[in-house]
Amino acid sequence: MHQASLTIDPAFRVAPVRRRTFGTFVEHLGRCVYTGIYEPGHPTADEDGFRRDVLELTRELGASTARYPGGNFVSGYRWEDGIGPAAGRPARLDLAWHCTEPNLFGLDEFARWARKAGVEPMMAVNLGTRGVQEALDVLEYCNVESGTRLSDLRIANGAKDPHGIRMWCLGNEMDGPWQIGHKTAHEYGRLAAETARAMRMIDPDLELVACGSSGSSMPTFGSWEATVLAETYEHVDHISCHAYYEEKDGDLGSFLACATDMENFIASVVATADHVRAKLRAAKRVNVSFDEWNVWYQSRFASREPFRDWPVAPPLLEDRYHLADAVAVGGLLITLLRNSDRVTAACQAQLVNVIGPIMTEPGGRAWRQTIFHPFAQAARYASGDVLRVEPVSPLYDTAEFGEVPVLHAVATRDDQHTTVFAVNRSTDRPVELTLDTRALGTVRVVEATTLTDDDVYAANTADAPDRVTPRPNPDVQTGPARVLLPPVSWNVIRLAR
Ligand code: AHR
Repeated sequence: MHQASLTIDPAFRVAPVRRRTFGTFVEHLGRCVYTGIYEPGHPTADEDGFRRDVLELTRELGASTARYPGGNFVSGYRWEDGIGPAAGRPARLDLAWHCTEPNLFGLDEFARWARKAGVEPMMAVNLGTRGVQEALDVLEYCNVESGTRLSDLRIANGAKDPHGIRMWCLGNEMDGPWQIGHKTAHEYGRLAAETARAMRMIDPDLELVACGSSGSSMPTFGSWEATVLAETYEHVDHISCHAYYEEKDGDLGSFLACATDMENFIASVVATADHVRAKLRAAKRVNVSFDEWNVWYQSRFASREPFRDWPVAPPLLEDRYHLADAVAVGGLLITLLRNSDRVTAACQAQLVNVIGPIMTEPGGRAWRQTIFHPFAQAARYASGDVLRVEPVSPLYDTAEFGEVPVLHAVATRDDQHTTVFAVNRSTDRPVELTLDTRALGTVRVVEATTLTDDDVYAANTADAPDRVTPRPNPDVQTGPARVLLPPVSWNVIRLAR
């Protein structure tokens, strides 16, 4: 057994818990929209054609924000194809995913769905095939109350009140050669700056996100952020980060430590943003919107042929997640929370079917994948302030990151509860975790759950939807608080007076 400890002290405050840390992502990709959130004719469909079973699971997931409509998709998207009477909407080739987009679900449907799901909509504009004017048009359609051509068109389409969308992404992954309308950092930086400046002429209070790198392994990583921010710094609030992780070549130890890469990624982007800030002698700070992150078995996706027949909403990127994936996701959530001073928004990519915490059958059942659980628990229980905890933990050696701690953790504290989120990355030994809670006064463990399984590759299915689910941790003592964390596990420990 490993021994580890951590000290919880309200004096070690990082930042408030940001609700936007718990964002999700809905892209027109595979079955995320069609037969995911939207399926008229499904037994649970409501009057708008939204699947009620998925709406309920989205609420249970606790997602705060939903980014839409892409992703790679947005870089070829004409938003006006998806408004007005459905019968008049055109079908279009979606070059990003080699599919046909029927445009039966668009902006107004998304705004309505977001309201029902209780999530804040977050929009991306197309800076791949389009530019400043189209960004202004979609903003006018969404946010101007009335009295202009596009705001009146929205009203005519049934949305009397403006959608009031605050957060906007200026394009998507424009550093990626796969992106439609891919640009150099300088080309993109200029376009993003001019788009942002013009959008603020309509609404100065928007929160704007410039595209950072689509991964820390991109050859332009670092210089991309520096160039883009040199052009856009005064016009934007956030720079984006995207990162996906997978177990490679059976190296479970490195995979379970993938949050180390995310930690380094955030530190590098923050340092670059602050460097630009110093050069410009700017007062404000640009923060990080980590608006795509997850486990994604990209190597499996990369090895498949593109569709030749341009199908509508085919199954794509439908990864089935197992316990180890959920523990990796838990570690990524811990890292996002630990960095809440500078990571002020994040979106797990994506919500349903496409690398999603929720899976559905067309016409049939919906269930929670393993990765649903750490997200839902963190979204529900992280509250008040994030506290920095520096675990005293044994280290283990990984091929990718060298020595990393076996225990990865963070704590949050509100008036009622202190909650510890902890991952045991050891593949063979439990961790006996002792909590030093002296700075909290008299507290006791009121709840402790663990997500684990004898088989690290155990998954949930439609027939066995609760194979991997959080269960009460039987190995808990109070005074001093001591909890046994099983090997490869995600854990939540709640303390109260
Ligand atoms: O989330 C899947 C894809 O990953 C998105 O469309 C793109 O932005 C990223 O490369």
